[in-house]
Order: sequence, then structure tokens, then C-alpha cells
Amino acid sequence: MLPSTMNVTLAISNKSLLDKVTSIISSFKDVGLVKNVKDYQELMPELEKTDKNLFFVIDLTSETFSAVTAKAQDIVTDHDKNVIFIVNDDQKTDEKYSAILDNVIGANFKLIELSSLISDLKSETGSDNFPIPINNFYKVTAFPCDIFVKLGVDKYVKIANEKDPVDDNFIQKFKAKRVDSFYVKSHDFYDKCTALFSDKLADVKLFDTKEEYVRKSQEILHGMVKDLGVNEFIVSKVNETLASVEKELQKPNLKKVFNLFEKMKGTFIYDHSYLTMMFCNILCKHMDWESEQVRSKLAMASMFHDLGMANPKKAFYEGAGKSKITTMDQELSQEILDHGRIIAEMLQADKEMPQEVINICLNHHEGLGPEESYPRGLTGTNLTQLECVFIVAHDFVLELYKIAFNTSKIQKAYDAVAQKYTSGNFKAIMKAFEVALEEEIKPSI
Ligand SMILES: [Fe+2]
Ligand SMILES: [Fe+2]
Repeated sequence: MLPSTMNVTLAISNKSLLDKVTSIISSFKDVGLVKNVKDYQELMPELEKTDKNLFFVIDLTSETFSAVTAKAQDIVTDHDKNVIFIVNDDQKTDEKYSAILDNVIGANFKLIELSSLISDLKSETGSDNFPIPINNFYKVTAFPCDIFVKLGVDKYVKIANEKDPVDDNFIQKFKAKRVDSFYVKSHDFYDKCTALFSDKLADVKLFDTKEEYVRKSQEILHGMVKDLGVNEFIVSKVNETLASVEKELQKPNLKKVFNLFEKMKGTFIYDHSYLTMMFCNILCKHMDWESEQVRSKLAMASMFHDLGMANPKKAFYEGAGKSKITTMDQELSQEILDHGRIIAEMLQADKEMPQEVINICLNHHEGLGPEESYPRGLTGTNLTQLECVFIVAHDFVLELYKIAFNTSKIQKAYDAVAQKYTSGNFKAIMKAFEVALEEEIKPSI
């Protein structure tokens, strides 16, 4: 929330743009003085003030303030999250703005975009409202609770009631307005929204034909991966490998595993397994492990690792950490703690199954030591690099669910993983991941 004495300086010369920004700024609670500066000379002394309660919106598209462009990065260094630059839409991805991307908005922004940007910059914590990516609502046929759209800090408008039917046209209407998340109240998020993360990519009943459903769910998963900055080349490579994993599963010895794999298609297990495979590939690229053999082992491990869990909905709890899992209902906690071992045993039935794949499945919740890891409580010094790559990619995907796939918070997801995995073989992997994030993922989101 904006502090009570937040004073705003607007450096915008175009009248209609100024009106648009002013009306949004004024919609925020707790804004004090709103001041318009008429030129560069008037703006500079304001920027030199060190008052933390100053907030700036500066229009770099107008000639009056274009000279500020050269100083943009320094201004962000001084004022951090208290400054927004308006730039030409086609220049948003320019290299000169890459370091201050979070502070930049295109000139043709929608009202809601600026509101969201301000709220993202200003209120990182303490919100009572949770964003859920709009595509996740294809997973259910009725809204699990009251649904809101965000209009500004603490401003939400209800657009659907609990139990209202979901339909494609309704979602498309909001997508057309560039709404990418719906909001729910925090208590509803925890109590009623599990299906939005653990169920199918799209509910078959929402569509007239099965073909339409399959097309839609592939479109959603593909879109998610692209939104996360995974390039087309990796997506197509991974899809090829996935096809060969499915072929592998035709072996009579793997009949049981095949049945489980088929059953989990369209569930949380499939979604997060597919995403894990993508991020394994990105990490491999930055570790200089480009062999098809490695890719194939990680693909198998990705698609098999949670098949030991009988109910896909339970997989939602797998990343909670051992200390929390052991406090859950005993049956549930036992199933979670055992799922790696169960699938590892099933895979042993195939004599040609690489031991590394079996070990990854067995160890995919290891790495944090006896307090938090299961089943054995190992650290990075007892795990191979390949196992560590998988663990990091998998945990990062679980973190992405926590930030509701909001790409502007991707650093937060990375930081959460980096903070946890610091021992032994994790060190080299996290270094590679940092490079991947800066050089590959961030520039493309
Ligand atoms: Fe798992
Ligand atoms: Fe998993």
C-alpha cells in the first residue's frame, strides 16, 4: 500500500495522457500531493530530492522529457520502485530499458495495466487478494468462489459469484481486455481453489467436442511455457523427446507405469511434469550438457517422478517440505513421503531403465537435509549433478505456482530456490541457473 504521505510528480506533456495517468493515480488511496512539472528544468530538482515518499511518472515519449532517457537507470537506482517511465510501445523491449524493465510501461497502456504496475511496484506484501492466471479457470466448470478483477491498489470489482458457470466466451472477453489474472480472497484461495491448480488444464465439459478440448489444453500449456520465456527451439526439442518417452512406455514391462501416465494427463501432475522437463532442458543448455541421452533421461524422470501418487490432487502438497508434511493427516503424509520410492520400484521392472532415471524419481524431494527432505534427508553433497538439476528445475516450477505464473515476479521464484539449494552439487547448478535467468528467461518475458 502507498504510504500515507506519498506525493506524486507527473512529468507528462501530452494532455490526454496526463488526464489518463492522473485519474489512475487519484484512484489510489493515500496519495498526497499530485504535482505536474512542465519541463526538464522543473523535473530535475524534484528527482534530486531524497524523500522516500516521492513517486514519479515520467513520459519519455515526449520531446519535453526525452532527455531524461539517458539518466533513467540512475533515477531507478536512486528512487527504486518509486518511478514509472512511459515509453513508446515498440521500444519497451529495447536494450536500453532491459535493466529497468519493471519500471517501464508502453504509451498505449490500458488503465488496468498502469494500476497493476503501480500496485506491483508498491505493494509486494500484505495483500488480501491472490492473482490466479486467467487460463486456470478453464480447469473448472463453475467458479469455486467469488471472483474479482483488480482495478487498483485495494480496488477489486467482483465479476462472478461462487458457483456461476465458467464459459469460454466469458474468459475470452477478459483476455481481450488484457486481463491475465482473476483475483480471489486469501481465505478462498486456500479453502476453495486447489482445483484451479491441481485439476485438468481445461475441463472437457467446457467444450463441445473432445478435439476442441485437446486443442484448447495444448494451447494453454504451450502459452504458459512461452509466457515463461522458454524459446520455441527448446519447446520443439522437448516435445520430440516427450514423444520418444511415450514410445518407451509401450514396453510390456512398463504397462503399470503406462496406465498411470495416461491417467494423469490433464492433471496437475502432468502440467508441472511438463514444465519441469522444460526447465531441466534450459539448465542443461547452460551446463553444456546437450546430449540427447541426458535430455531423454531427464524427460523420463520428469514425466514419471510423481506417478507413485495415486491421487493427482495430493501432488499439490508435495513441495510443502517434510516438517509440514509430517503434520498432515497420516494417510496423506504417508502417501506423499512414499511416492518417490513407489515409482522407483515400478520402474525397476524394466531392466533397460537407466539407473539415473530411477534415482532421480527416488530422490526428487532430497537436497535440503534431514529436516526438510524426504525420504532420506540428503543434501547436495550426497546427490549427483543430474539429480540436482532435476530437483532445482522441479522446485522452481512449484515456486512458479506460488507466484501464480506472474512473470514479473520470476526473480522471486528464483530467489526462493537459490536460498534453499546451496550445498554440494547444487552450487554449479544454481550458477548456471542464474545465467539462464538473466540471459535467456528474463529477456524473453
Ligand atoms: Fe514429487
Ligand atoms: Fe512433482
